[in-house]
Amino acid sequence: MLPFTEGKVILITGGALGLGRATAKLLAPVGARMVLADRDGEGARRAAAELGVGDRAVGLEVNVLDWPQVQGMVEETVRRFGRLDALVNTVGGSSGHGVKGARTIEELEIADWDRTMELNLKSVFLCCRAAIPALRANGGGRIVNTSSVAGRSQSQLGGPQYAAAKAGVVGFTRQLAFQLAADNITVNAVAPGPSLSERVTAIWDKRSEESRQEVLTRIPMHRLGEVDELAAAVCYFLSDLATYTTGHTLDVNGGLYMD
Ligand SMILES: NC(=O)c1ccc[n+]([C@@H]2O[C@H](COP(=O)([O-])OP(=O)(O)OC[C@H]3O[C@@H](n4cnc5c(N)ncnc54)[C@H](O)[C@@H]3O)[C@@H](O)[C@H]2O)c1
Repeated sequence: MLPFTEGKVILITGGALGLGRATAKLLAPVGARMVLADRDGEGARRAAAELGVGDRAVGLEVNVLDWPQVQGMVEETVRRFGRLDALVNTVGGSSGHGVKGARTIEELEIADWDRTMELNLKSVFLCCRAAIPALRANGGGRIVNTSSVAGRSQSQLGGPQYAAAKAGVVGFTRQLAFQLAADNITVNAVAPGPSLSERVTAIWDKRSEESRQEVLTRIPMHRLGEVDELAAAVCYFLSDLATYTTGHTLDVNGGLYMD
């Protein structure tokens, strides 16, 4: 059981699927109150209901690229639960969500560069911008962002736009940590390697055995990650075990990249 105070209010973006939903599942038994915000409102409400914690978890339809909706998301969280203790930003991805998975600069369309930056980096900026006043009003709190091995080293599966956006998340995390430390707000990030969220599983299943092996041979643990393994790192930063850690990006990648 995580040493995490009962009743903490945690807002998770991208809560309908993947890392966001897995994080909510780990937090449910330790008494957290959660808002799962997702562009897929139906999916977010279903994910919240599946936690089996009644009105301690709610799903909310939010496009995290839309500033008024992001502001509304934080306002709704505080209205429902009285305060905000933590923000977990998981929305992102190198393909899907309207972004083509271009891997080279020649293939990369300018519109896809913009979409990738918005989805992976601007979304984090907007959600932090909206949440920080509520965290300050709470006397402090936690922010956990999602980078990628692509932003720490280089990417086999993503392109330059994704690597740039996820490296941006690392820099943004450090700078916010520096600026918010005096407000008792810690800001950290997790940097996953390829992991079997529903989105990635669908892509992985379509790959040939040969191309899977190409990916796996580069991972010392010789397997992809599970979303629960990523969520465990997020929960560490949220927990009372991580009171003195800020500005850190934690690699969770089976040894694919070692700092
Ligand atoms: N899964 C991996 O292999 C992997 C590897 C490295 C980094 N990451 C990062 O981890 C994070 C989670 O990845 P995942 O695979 O679990 O993601 P996912 O695609 O399974 O889930 C993302 C969720 O975000 C939601 N979403 C997308 N656009 C949105 C928007 N504009 N507003 C609100 N919600 C939106 C989707 O509906 C979905 O529920 C991402 O930031 C991704 O870049 C994942």
